[in-house]
Amino acid sequence: MAREFTRVGVVGLGTMGAGIVEVFARNGVDVTAVEISDAALERGRATLTGSTDRAVAKGKLAEAERDALLARVDFRVGLGALHDVDLVIEAVPEHLDLKQRIFAELDRVCKPEAILATNTSSLSVTEISVATARPNQVIGIHFFNPAPVMKLVEVVRTVVTSADVVSDVEALCERLGKVDVTISDRAGFIANALLFGYLNHAVGMFEARYATREDIDAAMKLGCGLPMGPLALMDLIGLDTAYEILDTMYRRGGRDRRHAPAPLLKQMVTAGLLGRKSGRGFYTYERPGSPKVVPDEYTPLAADAALADGARAIAKVGVVGSGTMATGIIEVFAKAGYEVISVTRGAEKSAKVCEAVKTSLNKGVVRGKLSETDRDDALGRITWSATLEHLADVDLVVEAVIEELSVKKALFASLDEICKPGVVLATTTSSLPVIDVAMATQRPADVVGLHFFNPAPIMPLVEIVQTIRTSAETSATARAVCAKLGKTGVVCGDRSGFIVNALLFPYLNDAVKMLEASYSTADDIDYAMKLGCGYPMGPFELLDVVGLDVSLAIQRELYLELREPGFAPAPLLEHLVTAGYLGRKSGRGFRDHTRR
Ligand SMILES: NC(=O)c1ccc[n+]([C@@H]2O[C@H](COP(=O)([O-])OP(=O)(O)OC[C@H]3O[C@@H](n4cnc5c(N)ncnc54)[C@H](O)[C@@H]3O)[C@@H](O)[C@H]2O)c1
Repeated sequence: MAREFTRVGVVGLGTMGAGIVEVFARNGVDVTAVEISDAALERGRATLTGSTDRAVAKGKLAEAERDALLARVDFRVGLGALHDVDLVIEAVPEHLDLKQRIFAELDRVCKPEAILATNTSSLSVTEISVATARPNQVIGIHFFNPAPVMKLVEVVRTVVTSADVVSDVEALCERLGKVDVTISDRAGFIANALLFGYLNHAVGMFEARYATREDIDAAMKLGCGLPMGPLALMDLIGLDTAYEILDTMYRRGGRDRRHAPAPLLKQMVTAGLLGRKSGRGFYTYERPGSPKVVPDEYTPLAADAALADGARAIAKVGVVGSGTMATGIIEVFAKAGYEVISVTRGAEKSAKVCEAVKTSLNKGVVRGKLSETDRDDALGRITWSATLEHLADVDLVVEAVIEELSVKKALFASLDEICKPGVVLATTTSSLPVIDVAMATQRPADVVGLHFFNPAPIMPLVEIVQTIRTSAETSATARAVCAKLGKTGVVCGDRSGFIVNALLFPYLNDAVKMLEASYSTADDIDYAMKLGCGYPMGPFELLDVVGLDVSLAIQRELYLELREPGFAPAPLLEHLVTAGYLGRKSGRGFRDHTRR
């Protein structure tokens, strides 16, 4: 017989605890909600009422439902109130000694058959369990932030957790409308083990002034479709909690340097900048606990301010290349009103590119996104050529030829001879150093990276890559052009992977390593990232789409340039590529696509 969970206890009503209370009470379970003091109890109560009031305002909860939900919660100070609950979930700060003390006390207070669960993100559930005389009834129930919204729960069983406790908790998760993945007790479980290296890396980028907070966050949202950028997510998690999680993962997870908390985090925590909950973290919020970001001294000026900031006037644009990126980029510029000269290596190639641009524009018309006149005007603005000399009087050249340094360098040397003074020369390279192509010219100050994402007409992001020789004027011009294209231009330094790939691919590589270590399955890892972190695709789905060969090449570049041991490509990824399992394009990658 499965256990009945009629009343549960939640200990600690902070960021997570208050949300967990809401999840239970919403699903008809009575809750005893416990805090350490009256003041903390009132804060917890306010968080719960604030959240449920917002749900009512948004029409997601009826007023009567909210009242019933709140009536199910009994707010108390002290663990003594938990004597009659069937299950306790502990959500106090991430310190082992504190959690062990609480579990020892819960063991004394709670009924002998009660299950004791921890919401820890990174501590050892096993170590917490041995503080009790019932380690077989101790389990991890790891909710995601915000608990009422995120669908995933990681159920963590230790080597001593009873099988019936695991199955009863799994059934409970289902009753709460959650999807659970059950895993063993390892630092960071699935999601945090993959997430926190990435978050810490993003903090490191910000700390090194590689890019601004807004640009790092916009890059990951717009380039990868994530629900929030890494720094905004750190603020939501709470920087003190994030610090403790990283610190524990570093110590428990093999001292991977990528988990050693970025020094800036410690400084911010010491200064009381804890994120949303304190009203200030990487961003400034309207008030403590508010999700609303307000401008502060670091908020950048609006995009059009860049126009006044010494940007050169651009009317005529040359696009060199005949591949997917060049085709998309020609369309983007022509639609935005620029006069475009496309240069390919021959009339046949030009005809193909022209056909592809027409097809894409026609699709826009069929979908009602573009009028026939706009399509015709855009096409009318494009000139097709196979002669670089035709670029003599353009204001901007965007190079999108094959990703080979020697080819790009030769092209830039030719452009240097052909183009007029004052032209901006841009490369769309995604992995080569922009400075290498810049130095192939006599005017490196005019050279910049414009890294478009595929498909260029759809993806809203462009990484603007400044080398150490790029002039402020060139950079301002690139920003103004991106704004006119309707794209978000994020500015970053000339380092392998720029922002997006540098943050994305190590995470994908870590997922492969996790699979290789047999910690979990590809399906569960994909679920964990989608349902726990709101990613649009799981890492294995994405790897199969991007191509395993492409992913491996990017990961190798990152490893070679940054020499970070944790960036070494996963052997499994190398083996799959060697075996010809390249993802969707070859019919098989991490999954077999021929049978779907
Ligand atoms: N923040 C996240 O995104 C997140 C996500 C999943 C899991 N977690 C985990 O959840 C746990 C709680 O994290 P948080 O971010 O909610 O922390 P928090 O600092 O926001 O809240 C902790 C709460 O515990 C209370 N507390 C402290 N000592 C207590 C005691 N002896 N008895 C009762 N209450 C006590 C505090 O008053 C505070 O309200 C941690 O283990 C964390 O790793 C956090």
